[in-house]
Amino acid sequence: MKNHDIVEKNIGLMVILVVVAISFGGLVEIVPQFFLKETTEPVEGLKPWNAVQLEGRDIYIREGCHVCHTQMIRPLRAEVERYGHYSVAGESVYDHPFLWGSKRTGPDLARVGGRYSDAWHKAHLYNPRNVVPESNMPEFPWLFDNVLDGKDTGKKMAALRSVGVPYTDEDIAGAQAAVKGVTEMDALVAYLQQLGLLLQQKR
Ligand code: HEC
Repeated sequence: MKNHDIVEKNIGLMVILVVVAISFGGLVEIVPQFFLKETTEPVEGLKPWNAVQLEGRDIYIREGCHVCHTQMIRPLRAEVERYGHYSVAGESVYDHPFLWGSKRTGPDLARVGGRYSDAWHKAHLYNPRNVVPESNMPEFPWLFDNVLDGKDTGKKMAALRSVGVPYTDEDIAGAQAAVKGVTEMDALVAYLQQLGLLLQQKR
């Protein structure tokens, strides 16, 4: 009882002890995640994005696709029936930053790979109303005109490698040649077509 009186009468000490108590709560929740295999190990067959897909992913971020689209299927029946197998952490261990998102103005895209043809995606991105008359998604026609030079692709891969993405020296050396001359549209579609394929068959 006496010790408690000291804490209650000393606001500075109380603040410190409250912070300590809260951070223990946080640590207990967060630290084990770093050691759990299922949150740190890639799912079977996971490969890093190739050079073109990686550029496509950066265009996805630049254009703000993630502001309207999540890539996070929750393990709820309605979601699994609509989108396919729920998302697992091992699918995004090579993604920096991850694009799970939290706002669904449009549908979740975590497993959109292979759902439509390349031609469908291009028509849709040029003007969504071409293929979905009631769509209110914005148009992205400039993606057809912008051509990538691949100047920085190797550097991006090297940076990702430094945080654990297993790119090889050959991947990095060949990146510029792989990307040079590809339109932003083709890169973005290449990225979309790979999304979520690994667990898709379990749908
Ligand atoms: C302002 C919000 C918004 C933004 C930004 C946006 N979308 Fe959409 N998107 C939607 C809506 C709404 C739909 C549903 C109607 C439709 O299919 O067009 C949709 C549908 C889609 C679909 C079809 C998904 C399916 O399963 O049928 C794809 C693929 C897609 N968007 C990709 C993109 C990409 C790539 C970008 C960035 C270049 C983007 N979207 C940006 C709102 C948005």
